[in-house]
Amino acid sequence: MYSNDGNSLMINMSPKARKPWKPLQISNEAAQALVEFAKTGKLKWPNTVAKNLRGWSAWDWTKGGEEWTPSLEWKEALVKDVLYPHIPVGSRVLEIGPGAGRWTEYLIKRSSHLTCVDLTPECIRACQERFGELKTVEFVLNDGRDLSFVPPLSIDRVWSFDVFVHIQSSDVENYIRQLSTILVKGGSGVIHHSKFGAQKWGWRSDMTAQKMVQYCDRYGLTIVKQLESWGDGRFQINPNMPKGNVDTITIFEKH
Ligand SMILES: C[S@@+](CC[C@H](N)C(=O)[O-])C[C@H]1O[C@@H](n2cnc3c(N)ncnc32)[C@H](O)[C@@H]1O
Repeated sequence: MYSNDGNSLMINMSPKARKPWKPLQISNEAAQALVEFAKTGKLKWPNTVAKNLRGWSAWDWTKGGEEWTPSLEWKEALVKDVLYPHIPVGSRVLEIGPGAGRWTEYLIKRSSHLTCVDLTPECIRACQERFGELKTVEFVLNDGRDLSFVPPLSIDRVWSFDVFVHIQSSDVENYIRQLSTILVKGGSGVIHHSKFGAQKWGWRSDMTAQKMVQYCDRYGLTIVKQLESWGDGRFQINPNMPKGNVDTITIFEKH
């Protein structure tokens, strides 16, 4: 027996299979994955919070996340052409998923106050060790969804790179909903996420460029642009992909 409340699927296991009688709750993405499995025999489990937490807790963070940087020029150009222009000096900034602080060190230079939130305790520890002495930065461990510790209308800029590519779309929507209340009027966000949904490589989630447009629209945020290259086209977001870019960066504003 099952029921669906729109967000998740409740499966009531038979009393013989599971005692005491207790519903098993799985997300709609998980239910979808099981339907696909039944049809095709291929199981692509969604990028749940639990799976992210397991994966990133087991990650070796000693390289500081620089293993994902294609080249120093690529990174410097991203900072110069995307991060700096969209994060003016003196901004109150929220970074989602700092990892070991690959972008945090640049955000610190631009912000009057920086809040970094991550669901992986190891990442929060690594960032605290690296930047913890600075008075203008705080590191918060969350459950992979909740931003209620950030007061409404208290953030000028949001930055997240290499994070939302791994987060399932229902959780992305939940973050976007909260960002729309946290951002001040005139505030904006720069979020890197997958463009076409799940891929064979790179553990991309079901997120797409189109879904991001829908979520921003739903929560009163205006899309400024979606970009996949910078440095006058010299640097691509996924330079090592045989079939080209599979991610995009959405820049949105709150009016
Ligand atoms: C690939 S790492 C990227 C880290 C860093 N942004 C970088 O570019 O080096 C993904 C990061 O996202 C964090 N993360 C994944 N899912 C998250 C979620 N739902 N909420 C907050 N952080 C999340 C992970 O803990 C990890 O720090």
